[in-house]
Amino acid sequence: MLFTTPLVTLLAIVGSAIATPLVEVPEANVNHLEARVAADNMVQITSTTDYCMIVPRNKKTDIGDSEQPGGMKTYCSKPTSSLQGTFASNFWKKVTLKQGKGKNGKDYIQLTGCINTTTCDRLNPSDGGGQYDSSGGSGGKGNPQDSQCTGYASYVELIEPADNRACIRCCQDKADCPTNKDTQGCPAVIPGTYTGCD
Ligand SMILES: *[C@@H]1O[C@H](CO)[C@@H](O)[C@H](O)[C@H]1NC(C)=O
Repeated sequence: MLFTTPLVTLLAIVGSAIATPLVEVPEANVNHLEARVAADNMVQITSTTDYCMIVPRNKKTDIGDSEQPGGMKTYCSKPTSSLQGTFASNFWKKVTLKQGKGKNGKDYIQLTGCINTTTCDRLNPSDGGGQYDSSGGSGGKGNPQDSQCTGYASYVELIEPADNRACIRCCQDKADCPTNKDTQGCPAVIPGTYTGCD
Protein backbone atom coordinates (compact mmCIF):
# COMPACT_ATOMS: atom_id res chain seq x y z
CA MET A 1 0.00 0.00 0.00
CA LEU A 2 2.96 2.29 0.63
CA PHE A 3 3.75 2.17 -3.07
CA THR A 4 0.28 3.08 -4.23
CA THR A 5 0.81 6.82 -4.25
CA PRO A 6 4.14 6.79 -6.14
CA LEU A 7 2.70 4.29 -8.62
CA VAL A 8 -0.33 6.47 -9.28
CA THR A 9 1.97 9.47 -9.70
CA LEU A 10 4.15 7.52 -12.11
CA LEU A 11 1.12 6.44 -14.13
CA ALA A 12 -0.05 10.04 -14.24
CA ILE A 13 3.35 11.16 -15.57
CA VAL A 14 3.40 8.38 -18.18
CA GLY A 15 -0.18 9.24 -19.03
CA SER A 16 0.62 12.89 -19.67
CA ALA A 17 3.70 11.95 -21.69
CA ILE A 18 1.49 9.80 -23.91
CA ALA A 19 -1.13 12.50 -24.09
CA THR A 20 1.28 15.10 -25.46
CA PRO A 21 1.89 13.52 -28.89
CA LEU A 22 -1.84 12.90 -29.24
CA VAL A 23 -2.49 16.62 -28.81
CA GLU A 24 -0.04 17.30 -31.67
CA VAL A 25 -1.88 15.20 -34.23
CA PRO A 26 -2.96 18.26 -36.26
CA GLU A 27 0.71 19.16 -36.75
CA ALA A 28 1.42 15.63 -37.98
CA ASN A 29 -1.42 16.11 -40.45
CA VAL A 30 0.19 19.27 -41.81
CA ASN A 31 3.49 17.45 -42.32
CA HIS A 32 1.64 14.63 -44.01
CA LEU A 33 -0.02 17.05 -46.42
CA GLU A 34 3.28 18.70 -47.23
CA ALA A 35 4.95 15.37 -47.83
CA ARG A 36 2.24 14.52 -50.37
CA VAL A 37 2.91 17.57 -52.54
CA ALA A 38 4.95 16.75 -55.62
CA ALA A 39 8.35 18.45 -55.80
CA ASP A 40 7.34 20.10 -59.08
CA ASN A 41 4.06 21.42 -57.63
CA MET A 42 5.23 23.50 -54.69
CA VAL A 43 6.49 26.96 -53.87
CA GLN A 44 8.67 28.04 -50.96
CA ILE A 45 10.01 31.25 -49.47
CA THR A 46 13.02 30.83 -47.19
CA SER A 47 15.08 33.90 -48.11
CA THR A 48 15.80 36.20 -51.07
CA THR A 49 18.31 33.63 -52.30
CA ASP A 50 16.44 30.45 -51.33
CA TYR A 51 12.99 30.18 -52.87
CA CYS A 52 10.83 28.14 -55.25
CA MET A 53 8.15 29.46 -57.60
CA ILE A 54 5.82 28.09 -60.25
CA VAL A 55 6.69 28.93 -63.88
CA PRO A 56 5.47 27.60 -67.24
CA ARG A 57 6.71 24.04 -67.87
CA ASN A 58 7.41 24.78 -71.55
CA LYS A 59 9.76 27.38 -72.99
CA LYS A 60 8.69 30.95 -73.77
CA THR A 61 5.11 30.42 -72.65
CA ASP A 62 2.64 33.04 -71.45
CA ILE A 63 1.61 32.50 -67.83
CA GLY A 64 -2.05 32.33 -68.90
CA ASP A 65 -1.35 29.69 -71.54
CA SER A 66 0.56 27.57 -69.02
CA GLU A 67 -2.46 27.29 -66.75
CA GLN A 68 -3.59 23.85 -67.81
CA PRO A 69 -2.88 20.42 -66.31
CA GLY A 70 0.81 19.60 -66.80
CA GLY A 71 1.62 23.09 -68.06
CA MET A 72 3.38 24.35 -64.96
CA LYS A 73 6.48 23.43 -63.00
CA THR A 74 8.42 24.40 -59.88
CA TYR A 75 11.69 26.26 -60.35
CA CYS A 76 13.95 26.84 -57.34
CA SER A 77 17.06 28.88 -56.63
CA LYS A 78 18.35 25.78 -54.84
CA PRO A 79 16.48 22.76 -56.23
CA THR A 80 16.10 19.75 -53.95
CA SER A 81 14.65 17.42 -56.60
CA SER A 82 15.40 16.56 -60.22
CA LEU A 83 11.73 17.37 -60.90
CA GLN A 84 12.49 21.06 -60.28
CA GLY A 85 14.10 23.58 -62.61
CA THR A 86 16.80 26.03 -61.54
CA PHE A 87 16.50 29.79 -61.35
CA ALA A 88 19.62 31.71 -62.35
CA SER A 89 21.21 33.56 -59.42
CA ASN A 90 20.31 36.87 -61.13
CA PHE A 91 16.64 36.01 -61.72
CA TRP A 92 15.66 38.78 -59.30
CA LYS A 93 17.21 42.11 -60.26
CA LYS A 94 15.88 43.64 -57.02
CA VAL A 95 13.97 41.69 -54.41
CA THR A 96 12.58 42.46 -50.97
CA LEU A 97 11.54 39.88 -48.39
CA LYS A 98 8.88 40.88 -45.91
CA GLN A 99 7.30 38.90 -43.07
CA GLY A 100 4.28 40.18 -41.26
CA LYS A 101 0.90 39.61 -39.66
CA GLY A 102 -2.14 39.83 -41.89
CA LYS A 103 -5.72 41.05 -41.54
CA ASN A 104 -6.53 38.58 -38.75
CA GLY A 105 -3.09 38.48 -37.15
CA LYS A 106 -1.81 35.40 -38.98
CA ASP A 107 1.70 35.12 -40.44
CA TYR A 108 2.63 35.75 -44.05
CA ILE A 109 5.93 35.95 -45.91
CA GLN A 110 6.52 37.49 -49.31
CA LEU A 111 9.03 38.33 -52.01
CA THR A 112 8.34 41.34 -54.23
CA GLY A 113 10.45 43.05 -56.82
CA CYS A 114 11.95 43.26 -60.27
CA ILE A 115 13.05 40.29 -62.34
CA ASN A 116 15.42 39.88 -65.26
CA THR A 117 12.94 38.06 -67.49
CA THR A 118 15.60 36.88 -69.94
CA THR A 119 17.33 34.77 -67.26
CA CYS A 120 14.38 32.35 -67.27
CA ASP A 121 13.73 30.76 -70.66
CA ARG A 122 10.27 29.56 -69.56
CA LEU A 123 8.99 33.15 -69.67
CA ASN A 124 7.86 35.07 -72.75
CA PRO A 125 9.36 38.59 -72.40
CA SER A 126 6.29 40.19 -74.04
CA ASP A 127 3.76 38.37 -71.80
CA GLY A 128 1.65 40.80 -69.76
CA GLY A 129 1.61 38.24 -66.99
CA GLY A 130 -0.63 36.11 -64.87
CA GLN A 131 -1.19 34.42 -61.56
CA TYR A 132 -0.60 31.06 -59.90
CA ASP A 133 -2.17 30.18 -56.56
CA SER A 134 -3.24 27.42 -54.19
CA SER A 135 -6.97 28.15 -54.04
CA GLY A 136 -8.07 29.59 -57.39
CA GLY A 137 -8.76 27.69 -60.58
CA SER A 138 -11.64 25.31 -61.15
CA GLY A 139 -13.20 24.13 -57.89
CA GLY A 140 -10.87 26.37 -55.90
CA LYS A 141 -8.17 23.67 -55.93
CA GLY A 142 -5.43 25.93 -57.16
CA ASN A 143 -3.50 26.67 -60.29
CA PRO A 144 -1.56 24.39 -60.52
CA GLN A 145 -4.11 22.11 -58.86
CA ASP A 146 -3.13 21.02 -55.33
CA SER A 147 0.00 23.19 -55.35
CA GLN A 148 1.15 24.35 -51.92
CA CYS A 149 3.58 26.70 -50.24
CA THR A 150 5.78 24.81 -47.80
CA GLY A 151 4.72 25.58 -44.22
CA TYR A 152 1.76 27.79 -45.16
CA ALA A 153 -1.94 27.29 -45.77
CA SER A 154 -2.10 29.18 -49.06
CA TYR A 155 -0.12 31.24 -51.54
CA VAL A 156 -0.52 33.62 -54.45
CA GLU A 157 2.15 34.32 -57.08
CA LEU A 158 2.20 36.69 -60.04
CA ILE A 159 4.81 36.95 -62.79
CA GLU A 160 4.62 39.93 -65.15
CA PRO A 161 7.40 39.46 -67.72
CA ALA A 162 6.56 42.53 -69.84
CA ASP A 163 6.92 44.72 -66.73
CA ASN A 164 9.97 42.82 -65.40
CA ARG A 165 8.02 42.34 -62.18
CA ALA A 166 7.11 39.39 -59.94
CA CYS A 167 5.72 38.71 -56.48
CA ILE A 168 4.82 35.77 -54.28
CA ARG A 169 3.19 35.64 -50.85
CA CYS A 170 2.58 32.60 -48.62
CA CYS A 171 -0.13 32.97 -45.98
CA GLN A 172 -1.50 31.13 -42.95
CA ASP A 173 -4.79 32.99 -43.55
CA LYS A 174 -6.30 32.82 -47.05
CA ALA A 175 -7.60 36.37 -46.54
CA ASP A 176 -4.01 37.62 -46.90
CA CYS A 177 -3.48 35.78 -50.19
CA PRO A 178 -6.40 37.02 -52.32
CA THR A 179 -6.90 35.21 -55.63
CA ASN A 180 -9.63 37.48 -57.01
CA LYS A 181 -7.37 40.34 -58.15
CA ASP A 182 -5.37 38.37 -60.70
CA THR A 183 -5.68 40.99 -63.46
CA GLN A 184 -4.67 43.91 -61.25
CA GLY A 185 -0.96 43.14 -61.03
CA CYS A 186 1.56 42.63 -58.26
CA PRO A 187 1.24 45.98 -56.43
CA ALA A 188 -2.54 45.47 -55.98
CA VAL A 189 -2.38 41.81 -54.92
CA ILE A 190 0.82 41.93 -52.84
CA PRO A 191 1.71 45.42 -51.62
CA GLY A 192 5.50 45.62 -51.48
CA THR A 193 8.63 47.10 -53.04
CA TYR A 194 8.64 47.34 -56.83
CA THR A 195 10.75 50.38 -57.61
CA GLY A 196 13.05 50.39 -60.62
CA CYS A 197 11.60 47.50 -62.61
CA ASP A 198 11.51 49.34 -65.96
C1 LIG B 1 19.64 39.88 -67.69
O1 LIG B 1 20.10 38.58 -67.85
C2 LIG B 1 20.84 38.37 -69.02
C3 LIG B 1 21.12 36.88 -69.13
O2 LIG B 1 21.75 36.41 -67.96
C4 LIG B 1 22.12 39.22 -68.96
O3 LIG B 1 22.86 39.05 -70.15
C5 LIG B 1 21.72 40.68 -68.78
O4 LIG B 1 22.87 41.45 -68.59
C6 LIG B 1 20.81 40.85 -67.58
N1 LIG B 1 20.32 42.21 -67.56
C7 LIG B 1 20.26 42.91 -66.43
C8 LIG B 1 19.71 44.29 -66.56
O5 LIG B 1 20.63 42.48 -65.36
